[in-house]
Amino acid sequence: MKRIVVIGSISMDLVVTSDKRPKAGETVIGEAFRTVPGGKGANQAVAAARLGAQTQMVGCVGQDGFGKEIIANFEQNAVDVKHVRQSSDEVTGTAHIVLAEGDNSIVVVQSANKNVTFKEEQLNELLDEECFVLLQLEIPIETVRQVTAHCYARGIPVMLNPAPSRPLPDEVVQQVTYMTPNEHECHDLFPNLSVEEALEMYPNKLLVTEGVRGVRFHDGTDVQHVPAIQANVVDTTGAGDTFNGALATALVEGAKLVDAVRFAVVASGMSVEGFGAQGGMPTRENVQQRLERVR
Ligand code: RIB
Repeated sequence: MKRIVVIGSISMDLVVTSDKRPKAGETVIGEAFRTVPGGKGANQAVAAARLGAQTQMVGCVGQDGFGKEIIANFEQNAVDVKHVRQSSDEVTGTAHIVLAEGDNSIVVVQSANKNVTFKEEQLNELLDEECFVLLQLEIPIETVRQVTAHCYARGIPVMLNPAPSRPLPDEVVQQVTYMTPNEHECHDLFPNLSVEEALEMYPNKLLVTEGVRGVRFHDGTDVQHVPAIQANVVDTTGAGDTFNGALATALVEGAKLVDAVRFAVVASGMSVEGFGAQGGMPTRENVQQRLERVR
């Protein structure tokens, strides 16, 4: 079975919980502050590993306390950290999150994630045909472009989660195997197309996540809709990352796309029931039990 290689961001999430989201220029009193491991790349790696996939993280932290804590967290979750570099010129990336009024707002400071760059020889050593690569957009776009082109030339499958929304070279869109934007990111990627038109243009490749409405993709004949599960929402941070990690896990195990999406929708729905991006991410057993219940 292929191993999942996540090339992406690693951050410490600094999370403030508040009843009210401050408007511009306003100060409000919050309820709590916590630091928890995050970063879209790291979250996707932890999601996949918890579900049983052989998972390797490739990224960069600083030589600081956050970096050490994050590496220990990867190890606890059985994520291979051989290629997590500790850079000396940047601190660990941080995400500044306000959890208020049932949703989150996030400012990401890339810091060491800016140092996720490669020489071509390094990619040759890192990646082979036994890999399934996961990418997001919290590392330099040039790295995303390079890794995508490298993998395309060698037939290595790549799933790109185009988040947060940033302009992408056309060739990246053409060369990736799967793309998993949410509806807003889909609009940013294809401003002249409706979601339906974009899905039809990229059958079995573009999967649009639509929060409580579930996920849609085109199977070459029709649009397939996989509804979300009922969940007791505590924190939606990391739900998209869980979807990506779970989808990759099911695909490397050989599941058909529609079944992989069903599995990933359940895992992602469960992930919002715990605090923090990784707090609610389920194990394989948790997902099996929930699947029994929703059948
Ligand atoms: O997708 C959720 C993640 O986005 C958070 O963990 C935070 O680090 C931000 O990058």
